Amino acid sequence: MLTIAITSGKGGVGKTSFSANLAAALVAAGERTTVFDADLQLANLDIALGINPEFNLQHVVAEEKTLAEIVTKGPGGVQAITGASAVPSLMRAGPKKLGLFFSQLADLKNTTDILIFDCAAGLDNRVVSFLKLSEEVIIVASPDPTSITDAYATVKTIVRRSPNARIKVLFNMANFDEGQKLFAMFEKICWTYLKRKVDYLGSVEYDRRAALATRKRELFVVTDPDGKAARDIRAVAQTVRQWKESPLRQAS
Ligand SMILES: Nc1ncnc2c1ncn2[C@@H]1O[C@H](COP(=O)(O)OP(=O)(O)O)[C@@H](O)[C@H]1O
Ligand SMILES: [Mg+2]
Repeated sequence: MLTIAITSGKGGVGKTSFSANLAAALVAAGERTTVFDADLQLANLDIALGINPEFNLQHVVAEEKTLAEIVTKGPGGVQAITGASAVPSLMRAGPKKLGLFFSQLADLKNTTDILIFDCAAGLDNRVVSFLKLSEEVIIVASPDPTSITDAYATVKTIVRRSPNARIKVLFNMANFDEGQKLFAMFEKICWTYLKRKVDYLGSVEYDRRAALATRKRELFVVTDPDGKAARDIRAVAQTVRQWKESPLRQAS
């Protein structure tokens, strides 16, 4: 099971929309994919997917359900784990309960090829816990200058707390040329000030129809597969699939 954390410097850059649509594109490519709502500030994966699960993380924390039992199917065959508001009490729980949680998380591999954590923006300790559980970290940024400076601050924090993290950057609401240009600048800043290499994952264009799909609680990859944003997400999904084959990963 490949694990990926998705975060950003600030909110509203499209993390949840990207996580859910990337998951749908991965499912379409044959990967069983689960999105875990880990955004304790603004848990809204259920809304993005238009689902209303009967059981969520709250029930796992209360030990009424296992993690596998609360996995809910959403549009496009995306599997979802919701109820991030229970994450803080989970993190405060003793080592026994946390141990149980981690073993249930590992058991998801029976039904999941790729597990995506839709994390909060900014990095408090609870977000970092999810980053540490993940083999890959994707930072989503928009072309907005404050989003980029906040993304840099996020890289800095990740590097400090989780030095081995493999960091990828995705520019959302940017076209191909804009994304390339922004990344060249971003890469230079990370190298100059942090001596740290970051990789480019790609860009997803601004797409008015994608925004409309969100409003209708739909996934644009499913309902508008010919749109610009869906096309870009599918390209990203192909790259993400290749991470499974990484020699580094096979060795570990
Ligand atoms: N590529 C895009 N084009 C147009 N609108 C987008 C795009 N990506 C995200 N959005 C819109 O931006 C808003 C915020 O997205 P969301 O995923 O909730 O952000 P976050 O999870 O980072 O807070 C949503 O209304 C969503 O539809
Ligand atoms: Mg979100």
